[in-house]
Parts: sequence; structure tokens; C-alpha cells
Amino acid sequence: MWFTLTLEARDGSRCDIRYNPHTSEIDGIDLGPLDERDWLTAPHVSKLTPVGKSHAPKVLKIQLGLSCNYSCSYCSQAHQIGDATLSKLTDVEAFLTNLDSWLKGAPERIELWGGEPFVYWAKLKRLIPALAERFPTARFLIITNGSLLDREKLDLIVKYDIDIGLSHDGPGQRQRGPDPLDDPERRHWIEALLAEREDHVSINTVLTAENHDLDAIKVWFQERLGLDVPISLEGVVNVYDAATLLGAGRLEEADLHSLRRSLFESLATDPKAFGLDKRLRDFIMSLKVRRPIEALGQKCGMDRPEHIAVDLRGNVMTCQNTGAKGEHKIGHVDDFDAIALNTATHFAFRDECMSCPVVQLCKGSCMFLEGEFFKQSCANEFAFNMGIMMAAVWHLTGMVVVGVEGCG
Ligand SMILES: C[S@@+](CC[C@H](N)C(=O)[O-])C[C@H]1O[C@@H](n2cnc3c(N)ncnc32)[C@H](O)[C@@H]1O
Ligand code: SF4
Ligand code: SF4
Repeated sequence: MWFTLTLEARDGSRCDIRYNPHTSEIDGIDLGPLDERDWLTAPHVSKLTPVGKSHAPKVLKIQLGLSCNYSCSYCSQAHQIGDATLSKLTDVEAFLTNLDSWLKGAPERIELWGGEPFVYWAKLKRLIPALAERFPTARFLIITNGSLLDREKLDLIVKYDIDIGLSHDGPGQRQRGPDPLDDPERRHWIEALLAEREDHVSINTVLTAENHDLDAIKVWFQERLGLDVPISLEGVVNVYDAATLLGAGRLEEADLHSLRRSLFESLATDPKAFGLDKRLRDFIMSLKVRRPIEALGQKCGMDRPEHIAVDLRGNVMTCQNTGAKGEHKIGHVDDFDAIALNTATHFAFRDECMSCPVVQLCKGSCMFLEGEFFKQSCANEFAFNMGIMMAAVWHLTGMVVVGVEGCG
């Protein structure tokens, strides 16, 4: 599947290059020596081709529940809250005791998930020390809205060297609810976290219909928190419910255009902006190593057998954002070999993704979305990833992509 990319130089002259996202070939850009390799085919999950889970996961995601002290307007979990299992502190003990029956080896990363994880403080306090003792080499990660921090929680974060993703939308925070930075006490603990965990914390913003001007986001955080604060992007909003489809998730043509332009301009000026250098490098690497489309899994990683999401009752779910009382229960650790991820669709089964020029960057958006929710999420992801691809081409050629056309 080849695309013609029309590039424009500063003097207005134009030329065409050709790009094939299925083979990562690019004609018209000199990448230096290529580093072609042998590739394994990623599992292609679908309802008809379910994928199991590995007894030796590299990423273990423990979902404590989906309760939260916030109710962000676009929350990806809102539609699942009723499906989350409720658990007690005694379930933590049973979970820990039962671990050896199904988990072999040591995960590289253990993630503790809510809802808001710090709503489950009593469980975290019991779980983390026990898991750290059992898996001393594992890194811990918590994604939090940052509104419930205090000295005791920070001490645990420091003691167990936990990586923290702090979700905050800067100038768009009102779409998430109250701003913890407006509350002196909450602000104090967020600043303490930033100071004490310097290299292990990032602030992550979700780009939405009304909040996708990267310059404005950068300036907002600099004015509120200082120049050196590490601002990253959670990504662009995906759509999981009708309210988000009509609200924060609905980027119209003009919004999609300004989102793409903002991404491009920000990254063209600073390739490290918003921690997006990883994505820029991944795309440029895909060209140098000629990464075939068959080798690509979904962006979230949850289609891989080595990534597993469990709740404290041992239920296994599609991902940490889903509950086990509904359709996203894909099995139970007590019957491990019967676990079957059959709730998702790898992008290889989606025609639009197989004819998409940014598939190497997007990797199919969310794998369980369907219908209108998928359609809008796809439009949002397309603009977001096209901005990144344009920046990559800019850094490789000094020219701007002004047209993309499929040519079969
Ligand atoms: C669902 S939250 C759970 C953790 C915690 N409560 C928090 O907000 O950080 C995990 C991450 O997903 C992001 N998120 C929520 N809804 C989203 C959506 N519809 N699209 C993209 N990211 C979303 C949040 O901003 C947060 O960074
Ligand atoms: S995004 Fe996080 S903080 Fe916001 S409602 Fe969802 S779980 Fe709560
Ligand atoms: S932008 Fe849309 S079509 Fe392209 S890979 Fe992502 S989800 Fe698929």
C-alpha cells in the first residue's frame, strides 16, 4: 500500500516522495544504511481468533476497582464502573497468597490501577510492600489524578521507587473537575512529588476538542509550576460513551486541523516536546529497520500474552479500564489456560487501518472500540499521529508535508 506524500520546501518548491506503511519503505528520503531484520508476526486478536495470556507476564496490571473521587467528562472508564468487581482488604491477602499458583517468574513492571488508585490506599499500603519483597526487580507505576497525595503516600512512593503519571489537563482541567493546584494543600503535595521524584514523575495531559493547543498548555504549566516541569501527553481523547462523543471527544474538521498543526509545529521546533521524541524516534526507526505491518501489535500492548490485567478477585479483563462483571471479563487466573481475549479487534481486521498512512504510529487506536465511538477516536488519532509524522518528515528533509494521497 503506497502513499504519495507531497512535500513543500521553504522557497515554495514541491516534490513527491512515496511511503509504504505496510513495509516501511520510503522512496525519496536518504536514511543512510538500513538495518533490516527478521520480524515475528504479532498476534492478531479478534472475536474469532482469541489470544491467551502468559504465565510469565512482563507487565502485570492490578486493578483495585473503578471508584474515583473525580468524574472527568471524558473518562474512558465511566461506562465500565457498574461492571467493576468490589473487593475487600481480605481479597488482597487472598490475591497475594494465590499469586504463586498462576504467576511464574517476575514481571518487569507492576502497575496499580483505579479508578483513582489512591482511593484504595489501605489496599495499596498492603499490596506494594508485599509485591516489592516478592519481585525486587520489578518497577512500579501508578497513574493518578494527584488530588489525594499526602506525606504518607509520598513516603511510600519514595520508598518503593514508584513511577508516577499525574493526569492534569492544564488550561483544560475544568473538563476533569476541580483543579488540585487551586487547593493549597493539594498543590503542596503535588509540588513535593515533583521535587522529590524529579525523574520518576510526568504530568500527562489528554488533548480534547477544547484543549489541544500545545503552546497554550506549555505556557499554562510553566506559569503555574515553573519551567522545568516535565509535561507529557497522555494522547488524544478516545471516545467511550455518548456524552464524550458529543462533548470533549468530538473534534470537528477545524479542530482536527488545528490539532495536527499544533503537534507538527511543536515537534518541528522541539523534537523532545511533551515527551513525544519517543514516538518520533519510533517512527524514524520503523523506516530504518523496515518494520513490517505484521509485526505491529496494538499501541496499548494489551493484545500481547505478556501483558495481563487482573482484579483483586483474580478475574482477568480486556484491560485495566474495564470491569470483570460484564463483557470484558476474559477469564480467571484459577483457570488460566482458558483465558481468552476475545473482546478486541486487532487493527489488521479493520479496513481503514490497513489503508492508513499513519498506522505505524497509531497502531490501531483502542482495540475494543466499535461503531461511532471508534470512528471519532480514529479521526482524533489520525490528526494526532499525522502531526507527528509530519514532524518526522520535517526533521528528515526540512520540508513540510502538504498532501498525502493513497495510490494502491
Ligand atoms: C482512566 S485514568 C485512571 C487513573 C487516574 N484516575 C487518572 O485519572 O490519572 C487513566 C488515564 O487515562 C486518561 N484518560 C481518561 N479518559 C480518557 C479518554 N477518553 N481518552 C484518552 N485518555 C483518557 C486519564 O487522563 C489518565 O491519564
Ligand atoms: S480519568 Fe481518572 S480521575 Fe478522571 S474520572 Fe476517570 S478515573 Fe477518575
Ligand atoms: S488513525 Fe484510524 S485508521 Fe489509522 S491506524 Fe489509527 S485507528 Fe486505524
